[in-house]
Amino acid sequence: MPIPVTLTQTPKQKPAPGQALPFGRLFTDHMLLMDYSRKQGWHSLRVVPYGDFTLPPSAMVFHYAQEVFEGMKAYAAPGGLTLFRPMENLKRMNASCRRLCIPEMPLDEVYEGLLALLKLEKDWVPADPGTSLYIRPTVIATEAALGVKASDTYLFFVILSPVGAYYASGFNPLKIVVEEAYTRAAPGGTGSVKCGGNYGGSILASYLAHEKGFDQVLWLDAAQRRYVEEVSSMNIFFVINGQLVTPGLGDTILPGITRDAILKLAGVLGIPAQERRVSLEEIVAAQASGALQEAFGAGTAAVVAPIGSLTVDGKALTIGNGATGPITKKLHDTLTGIQRGNQPDPLGWVVKVI
Ligand code: COI
Repeated sequence: MPIPVTLTQTPKQKPAPGQALPFGRLFTDHMLLMDYSRKQGWHSLRVVPYGDFTLPPSAMVFHYAQEVFEGMKAYAAPGGLTLFRPMENLKRMNASCRRLCIPEMPLDEVYEGLLALLKLEKDWVPADPGTSLYIRPTVIATEAALGVKASDTYLFFVILSPVGAYYASGFNPLKIVVEEAYTRAAPGGTGSVKCGGNYGGSILASYLAHEKGFDQVLWLDAAQRRYVEEVSSMNIFFVINGQLVTPGLGDTILPGITRDAILKLAGVLGIPAQERRVSLEEIVAAQASGALQEAFGAGTAAVVAPIGSLTVDGKALTIGNGATGPITKKLHDTLTGIQRGNQPDPLGWVVKVI
């Protein structure tokens, strides 16, 4: 069935080539919507002009944060527009829905809707190096009720934002501090799904870290405060004695699509890689002995973000020589080359939209 489209009567000015695109500030002319009710299930997929929602103050999302979201990107590729492993994001969105007690979405229909939206908004996809069209699918609980329970109604929406680098510093090494006071995710909690609550709970720590001049915090596990987990907006990787190492997944770490891509690319590039528990003690010792050569974060928004220093117990430890390391650069360049269609796609990840 064709997807109904209502066109905007007031199209906005698109960014000019070369214009700075701070992350997630500018939105395109249209968005994708779909509704859920217990009676009708997911229904009424449609494209409409980007605009405000009207919701009652009692809508459950405002009170109990029954919400999930995703982050994906579309790229201007030679002669068209591409997506990177889009079904992986959509499948993860459904995993998040299951954990938040939200009815799972019909992914084939959602995907068709996404393609229709992207085709309509194709001229918003920026083409400058390092830019892309960020895609934010989101599901919110809309029932007007204050009892703590699963909502009976939901709204799904997808908005699009032309973006440059996630961190204002661009592809320059970040200063990260190990978070000592707060934790992000406890065993059995929601740490491994993409729900707004995980991010809301992380803001105070990030805010305090920014005030001290750091770009982000590195979370330790909540149970023992001993093992390295992730950086909220990114998974974390280390290069120790030439080996790529990242914390193994569990129920406290987001299973990043970029994380997975980096591990698979490492295989293609012949870089030995391990997923395992990584203690902070090990990282400190590896830094002291010179075995810790590189570190970087990986995520859809941030792509591959080099880490130049890690502050532990108030002491800044320089990683490698503090600059972007060769393995970080190789993985960054290969991944972005594949995403933009400038390099062969050995694992068949890129999907052509037009
Ligand atoms: C992403 O990498 O897409 C994220 O969702 C991280 C952050 C911007 C919330």
